Amino acid sequence: MSQVFEPNREFSRDARIKNMCEFKELRLQAEEDFEGYWDKMAKEKIDWFEPYDTVLDESNAPFYKWFNGGKLNVTHQCLGRHLKTRKNKAAIIWEGEDGSKRIITYLQLYYRVNRLANLLKNKFNIKKGDRVVLYLPMIPEAAFAMLACAKIGAIHSIVFGGFSADALRDRVQDAQAKLVITADGAFRRGKPYMLKPVVDEALKEGCECCSKVLIVQRNFEDIDYVPGRDYVYNEMIMNESQHCDPEPMDAEDPLFLLYTSGSTGKPKGVQHSSAGYILWAQYTMEHVFDVKENDTFWCTADVGWITGHTYIVYGPLAMGATTIMYEGVPTYPDVGRWWKMIEEHRVNQFYTAPTAIRLLHKLGQDEPAKHDLSSLKVLGTVGEPINPDAWMWYYNEIGGGKCSIVDTWWQTETGGHMITPLPGATPIKPGSATFPLPGIMAEIIDEDGNPTPKGEKGFLCITKPWPSMIRTIWGDPDRFVKSYFGDCKKDGKPVYFSGDGAMYDDDGYIIITGRTDDVINVSGHRLGTAEIEAVLGHHVNVAEVAVVGKPDAIKGECIFAYIVLKGEDTIGEEIEMIQELNKLITKEIGNIAKLDGILFVPGLPKTRSGKIMRRILRSIAKSEAITQDTSTLEDPSVVTTIEKLFNR
Ligand code: WTA
Repeated sequence: MSQVFEPNREFSRDARIKNMCEFKELRLQAEEDFEGYWDKMAKEKIDWFEPYDTVLDESNAPFYKWFNGGKLNVTHQCLGRHLKTRKNKAAIIWEGEDGSKRIITYLQLYYRVNRLANLLKNKFNIKKGDRVVLYLPMIPEAAFAMLACAKIGAIHSIVFGGFSADALRDRVQDAQAKLVITADGAFRRGKPYMLKPVVDEALKEGCECCSKVLIVQRNFEDIDYVPGRDYVYNEMIMNESQHCDPEPMDAEDPLFLLYTSGSTGKPKGVQHSSAGYILWAQYTMEHVFDVKENDTFWCTADVGWITGHTYIVYGPLAMGATTIMYEGVPTYPDVGRWWKMIEEHRVNQFYTAPTAIRLLHKLGQDEPAKHDLSSLKVLGTVGEPINPDAWMWYYNEIGGGKCSIVDTWWQTETGGHMITPLPGATPIKPGSATFPLPGIMAEIIDEDGNPTPKGEKGFLCITKPWPSMIRTIWGDPDRFVKSYFGDCKKDGKPVYFSGDGAMYDDDGYIIITGRTDDVINVSGHRLGTAEIEAVLGHHVNVAEVAVVGKPDAIKGECIFAYIVLKGEDTIGEEIEMIQELNKLITKEIGNIAKLDGILFVPGLPKTRSGKIMRRILRSIAKSEAITQDTSTLEDPSVVTTIEKLFNR
């Protein structure tokens, strides 16, 4: 059994939740009076324009409604209401990769957002409910754009900068976005890179919905401008008023879409609400990171992912905190960059991904000791399971053995943390996300809906709705129901299934065991194997393909493809094929989905009905013994052949 680390006593004394008694008391309150619990929270935390009628409306489950009838604007929660007490406080501290800095106070941020909101309304005719795609680097303008949309009730959909033109086009089309906000480019590893040409390529065809592009100049490289379509932010923003009234939004009005991968088909536009989402962002910032008025909070994610949405922008700003935003990579100009930044900004809470911890551990084991990291109080991880080695290094070398590590389990669909330690209360164990937050009814169940015994893997389900849950998949409510409420039942009623497996250890701690579906997690990025397979299948020489995750020491998992080529004459051209296939992936999805390994095989293991037995392929990629019965396969010998080729 793994070691248990008690929270730092001094820290606990000042924490919002100070011990397990307080934690259990909250959990009990939520269990005894579920709606009352959320009602209290929503009244306490949200500055409503108009009160809501009902806390939870379950009449059209699983299309749950929270705080229905209430009116608010998320930017009032994040900016407007702070002006009385925090107008000169730093809202965003931004650091460019080249070391340049911008400090934006709450008042300045408020004005910037208002100017951009006015620009969107007046020059681009963006109205409540319109979709705006943001394809932006890590610059403060990304936050301005998110909040400007929220201010006027437009729905933003951020596309991560690592996605290709084809992927961007799919997302613009699916959301029927009217406008794309982008930048000329930014800096990475000390060099400029470009974004605008990707937008040009994406909008070349099939995007009639989108007639305008707004460009932030960041790296000032030469780009082409399409007259009548392209506009420069830096020039236009000067002419707009810094006053703008917030649009009163219904609690359930969508705040944003964020596309994520599922096990089948194209990416899903996860739709989040206004009130439930912002409540959850703020609540988890307060409880899970225990951020105090003078603290400096740093989440290293990209704003293109849900972690960046909730824990760089919405969460910290909703609670009136100071949030750090960093443009570049952790290894520029050297592997001490992040530790130097923590020292310089006196960062108090630091939130990152296991993959980054593993990388920095490997490349710069002794770097942290060169910096004063004593300001740190809470460390967080997210995105994938963290291995005990990386956990211990993080705990001892970054946290100096005095900071709790909050291993937060959650998903794009959950909006914010779900299962996580509370830093002042929970005794932590390396590799465990510990317990669900109060009010989150997470259970691990088997195929029949019964709780699994300790030590046995089951399906991780959330058996009651929660305020920040996904509301639907944009434009595809049936897929929403099927994807999340189709697989697991409790007491005969469909419940939310996360797609993850999990188990309880002997002490009832939750251990996340990873995806049970065909989603792989590469450096904390979620990728659907079906999407990658579809792309590879487009190559003229590919007859069949199966993609699985293969363990990787740094990335957690990497992408491994088994490929059956068409015809004899392609044998011997494998090296060129590898290059061509990766080019195809880069074009249709982006660099983040590049293949790390390809094995050309004569056939794939299939059942007699033609279904590919991916579990066998996964076992081979993991170098595990094959435990499945292979006798029912169409051609059992293919398994031994593949194993031989793999081990060659
Ligand atoms: C995985 C990221 C283990 C999980 C916020 C989940 C984790 C998927 C953890 C969601 C964790 C996230 N321990 N696994 N602490 N956190 N995951 O939507 O498989 O990008 O389903 O959201 O990441 O990824 P997503």
